[in-house]
Formats: sequence, C-alpha cells, structure tokens
Amino acid sequence: MRTKITVVGAGHVGATVAQLLAYRELGDIVLVDVIEGLPQGKGLDLLESGPLEGFDCRVVGTNGYEETRDSHLVIITAGVARKPGMSREDLLKTNADIVKSVAESVAKYSPEAFVIVVSNPLDVMAYLTKRVTGFPKNRVMGMAGVLDSTRFRTFIAMELNVSVEDVQATVLGGHGDSMVPLPRYSTVSGIPISDFLSPEQIERLIERTRKGGGEIVSYLKTGSAFYAPASSVVQMAEAILKDKKRLLPCAAYLEGEYGLHDIYLGVPIKLGAGGVEEIIELKLTPEEQDALSRSAQGVKKAIDQLQL
Ligand code: 2OP
Repeated sequence: MRTKITVVGAGHVGATVAQLLAYRELGDIVLVDVIEGLPQGKGLDLLESGPLEGFDCRVVGTNGYEETRDSHLVIITAGVARKPGMSREDLLKTNADIVKSVAESVAKYSPEAFVIVVSNPLDVMAYLTKRVTGFPKNRVMGMAGVLDSTRFRTFIAMELNVSVEDVQATVLGGHGDSMVPLPRYSTVSGIPISDFLSPEQIERLIERTRKGGGEIVSYLKTGSAFYAPASSVVQMAEAILKDKKRLLPCAAYLEGEYGLHDIYLGVPIKLGAGGVEEIIELKLTPEEQDALSRSAQGVKKAIDQLQL
C-alpha cells in the first residue's frame, strides 16, 4: 500500500514540508488549505518538479478533506504566524479555532493517522489536537525540540568555527522563551561544550536559542521561520515512516514523567513506527528540573485559557 501524508496549511512551512517530503520520496502528499487555488497551485508546481528532481510520488492540493482520507501521517501547520513584537501565546485564540476544526477533520477522515502538530503556541496546540481527535498519546506529538536544538547546534558551531555535523545539542521544555537548552547534554564530537566555551559564552548562545524564532520574525516582519521548522518536521516524519527509532526532543503528552501530568512539553522521545514509542527521562539537576517546571507552568496556563 502507498503511504499517504497530509500537510494541512500551504503557507511557507506547509509548502516547504511538502517539498522536502517529495524530494525524499517519503509518500504521496496531499496539501490542504482553506485558500482557494493555493494548495492546488503549489501542489501542481511541486509535482512538476518531479521529473527534474527524480522523485515519483503523487502530489495533490485541495481545499477539502476527501482527498486526505486514510492518511498515514498528518502534519498540521495551519494557523497564523507571529508578527514582530508578538509572542507565540498571542496566537492562542485564533489558532485554537483553526486547529480545532482541522483536528476534527483529521479524526473523521484519517482515524488511524499519526499527527505532528506545528502550529503555535506549539505545546498547547498539540494538547488541543490530542483532546479533539481523541487519538492515543503515541500518535499525537508536536514539533519544536528538534527546531530549538538545531538552532542551538547552529549557534554552537558558529561560535566555535566547527562543522555543524559534529555538534549535538538538546533543548527541552515548552516552545517559547522559557525553553530549556541543556548545555550538559550538548557536545562537539562527544566532548561537552563546557570544555570549549566559557559559562558566559554558553549563556549568550542559550539566550539566542530561546529567542531564535523571534530573531527570524524580526527580520522577515510579515511571518516566521520556515526552512528550519520544515526540516525539523521532516526529520520526525522520516523517523516514523522508516521506523528509525530516533531519539529526538519533541512535544509529547506527559503522565507523570518529569513530575508533570496532563500536559504537552518538549522531552526526549524514541520516535519510530509506533510514533512516540518511549519517553526518555533524563536525570536532571535541581536547576534544570526547576527550569522545566517553570516552562511547564506557562504551558499549563495557556491550556487553561482554552477552557476545554
Ligand atoms: C519558530 O520558532 C515558527 O515557532 C516557530 O520559528
């Protein structure tokens, strides 16, 4: 059977996700958007690059959900993006309405799907999606930790003038300014970054990572980042579709892990054909655990505002 992947939202993130999925031939792609013509146009354009790029998968754009029926994986990027000066939380009400209606359609047309949520505020939208679809926790997850970690990796590599290929980094917590980059678990070829960088340098890179999304918004002015977010989503999609069992930081539903209950938050998970197959519990220092709990409090507050 062919693998069907639905991407909801044909904006910058959705369209770039579709492009990367096609280039990697990860499945047939259905691009959905409410704007008439937009998903059809971008879908056809992408399909027409197939003979040149050498990928052979179906790509269709649509304004409805009929074409998405029985998708294996659904990626939700729908919603509005930030403008300069806005926080991700400012998007709460608008995007909650959009994501709620998308999630209802996903549950109706693709009841067996895995879902990766990308819309902001991320952790809250992942929570909402799980609640609305009623899907089990292994099938609904949010993309943020991979993005926050790739930003931290980039900044570490730039600071040290080393290849990004050798830099690993872990960022946990909510996808907001209270996210928790973990220098203790960040290395260059296995060597802790504290062997190369002073505490002040590390703090500066952490701060830039926390504000990484906002930095791009302040340049673009009319929208937010999409290349790194799309690559992050596709890394997660590939882990599921190829059953790679990768250890990646993702927003996952917690039921007691890290002392947190009934919340979505960025934690390391094992991602494979079963979706979120395992939540990895790191032994955090009291300071790290405090920072994670503080980040969780912000997410909880936003979830409460939804009055589900
Ligand atoms: C970011 O961090 C859009 O939240 C996304 O760039």
